[in-house]
Amino acid sequence: MAEAFHSRGSTVIVCARDEQALSATADRLPGVVALPCDLVDKQQREDLAAEVLRRFPDLDILVNNAGIQRYVDLKKGYAELKSGEDEIAINFVAVVELTALFIGHLLSRRSAAVINVSSGLGFMPMLSTPIYSATKAAVHTYTLVLRQQLKGTSVKVVEIVPPMVDTNLNRAGRDAARTGFRGISAAEYIATAVKRLEDDADVIFDGDGENVLAQPRGESENSLLNPSR
Ligand SMILES: NC(=O)c1ccc[n+]([C@@H]2O[C@H](COP(=O)([O-])OP(=O)(O)OC[C@H]3O[C@@H](n4cnc5c(N)ncnc54)[C@H](OP(=O)(O)O)[C@@H]3O)[C@@H](O)[C@H]2O)c1
Repeated sequence: MAEAFHSRGSTVIVCARDEQALSATADRLPGVVALPCDLVDKQQREDLAAEVLRRFPDLDILVNNAGIQRYVDLKKGYAELKSGEDEIAINFVAVVELTALFIGHLLSRRSAAVINVSSGLGFMPMLSTPIYSATKAAVHTYTLVLRQQLKGTSVKVVEIVPPMVDTNLNRAGRDAARTGFRGISAAEYIATAVKRLEDDADVIFDGDGENVLAQPRGESENSLLNPSR
């Protein structure tokens, strides 16, 4: 996605923990700014936002893309849950808190956007990834309400709901599970998703997903929200 935005002339700031991967990206895409950050760490999140807002006052899009996925056997209890990285902190808490850190600035821009990346598994959970699926359902619900609360402001809210894409997500787990199909290529998916972004879509949800969203949620979306506030 960074590459797609860069090729269209945007100033792109990328953030992740792996400093080598970040510098490789910055070397490959001249002008891209790489800022190392562990989004699980509250202080690092706050420092990231402060640095970005100080150095890039023209910032107008926040993309909450970082995420991890783990296979978790819930029967194994606490030790299993705590045996890996914290999916709730990365996939959900960081999305909510980063948005809160940037929203004041974004609202001051003439035209801005928050783009949240959820997952098809937030709508139809996979048994082996219970926490991941729940965090993505949470991202979806949060994004739905964020969009409604920001209605009439300069900030557009977009949800990208990818299908299975062949990336580094849970690579070790997927390798061990020897799942055959690894998903479509990232290049192929991003080409489609960016085209939908250019078409001004609010929700980018391919294939059958459109039906999942269109049916019962259209109704509950309105009844759950208080339009007077
Ligand atoms: N691939 C799929 O099938 C699929 C399907 C639906 C949704 N998604 C979603 O798409 C998004 C991108 O995932 P991907 O598939 O591209 O996987 P990926 O190749 O593993 O990329 C995940 C990115 O998140 C960053 N990240 C993870 N933890 C972080 C942390 N604590 N602090 C800062 N950055 C962190 C990673 O960088 P570092 O490791 O260097 O920190 C990496 O750049 C995720 O939200 C994922 O849930 C993926």
